[in-house]
Amino acid sequence: MKPKEIAELVHLGHPDAPYGVRALARCYTIDDLARLARKRLPIGAADYLDGGGEDEWTMRRNREAFGEVELLPRVMRDVSDLQTAVTVLGTPMPLPIVLSPVGAPRMFHHEGELAVARAAKAAGGLTYGVSTLATQTLEAIAEAANGSPLWFQLYLWGDRGISRELVSRAKAAGYRALLLSADTTVRSERDRELHRGIELPTPQLNLRTVLNGARHPSWSWHFITSPPPSFPNLSMHGPTSRDQMKEMFDGTVSWRDLEWIRELWDGPIAIKGVLRAQEAVRAAEHGVDAVIVSNHGGRQMDHVPASLEVLPEIVDAVGDRTEVLFDSGIRRGANIVTALALGARAVLVGRAHLYGLAAAGEPGVRHAIDILAQELRMSMALCGASSLADLDRTLIRAS
Ligand SMILES: Cc1cc2nc3c(=O)[nH]c(=O)nc-3n(C[C@H](O)[C@H](O)[C@H](O)COP(=O)(O)O)c2cc1C
Repeated sequence: MKPKEIAELVHLGHPDAPYGVRALARCYTIDDLARLARKRLPIGAADYLDGGGEDEWTMRRNREAFGEVELLPRVMRDVSDLQTAVTVLGTPMPLPIVLSPVGAPRMFHHEGELAVARAAKAAGGLTYGVSTLATQTLEAIAEAANGSPLWFQLYLWGDRGISRELVSRAKAAGYRALLLSADTTVRSERDRELHRGIELPTPQLNLRTVLNGARHPSWSWHFITSPPPSFPNLSMHGPTSRDQMKEMFDGTVSWRDLEWIRELWDGPIAIKGVLRAQEAVRAAEHGVDAVIVSNHGGRQMDHVPASLEVLPEIVDAVGDRTEVLFDSGIRRGANIVTALALGARAVLVGRAHLYGLAAAGEPGVRHAIDILAQELRMSMALCGASSLADLDRTLIRAS
């Protein structure tokens, strides 16, 4: 063990000292936050956060694809009054950024979704998408959000009764839009999780994980002194083990389910996980209000293209029949500019906000949002765009 790690252990006497907040001052980028997050998390939780499907080819492609696009800024334009507000799925937003739904955020910080919801509120009412696999109740998250907009992400379980109940609870708690994740018909395996023996929502404690936890005392302290992570929205009938989870993702979801969901939910509906232009059109024909071009951050099917590569063809195919949102690989404000220039109305950010959560809880998520917002504003200004409408394909250099 390194001396620095021993010094960290000595702090065990004051585990409640503000969780990582001081170190935030030295985080200037999302990558800096990611490094801090990896220091604070035990290896199993870090691998759950960072991992991708099988060989992680698609996960890497998501980042590489941004590296292959060049922007051509416009000059000599007055950008002193930047406008970043937009309305998506009927929800007004101060920034074209939505915090992505993620399962089991309490693996990264003991407050989980409550910390994220408070940070979204503090950022001026950023929209937060809450997962079916949330580790806080839908109602408690709504209370923490305190009027800041929430969307509900639905996984359709084999047992549709559970989905029906969840949708009506989300509606009652004031969630404004439904995101149906279509790319998870069966549960995928991630090698890193298999190797670490990760069982969601409660990690299995064996000698190796306990020893590793000792090197991450702050996380471990909160883990031991807080109620164990669970899926409280599913607790009545919910899956808790890897095998039960497989049974719930039973592969039966089909287009017919959309009609059924439409009857349950009268608000806006988006399909998350669309990569084919024809299917985006089909979604529009089924009355869906938005498609989310996403490969789940490279966590589901491996060897599918980067979301960015298929974004333009999907935008062209659907025209103005549905809104098009984008996720997978956003780490920089310039990435948001690129996605919007290629036709996305807004982006969702998954790992970027989770790094903040893992690094320092609510202030960490706020810091992640601030970094992305500042970089977005800087990139817009440097591209000569004073509004989101100015972000169009003429900004992209044809290759
Ligand atoms: C740890 C983790 C858990 C996730 N859980 C869910 C989930 O429960 N439901 C869902 O629709 N997407 C889930 N996602 C995918 C995100 O919503 C989003 O599509 C993805 O993170 C975007 O890529 P990015 O992380 O590169 O921003 C998860 C992502 C991560 C990193």
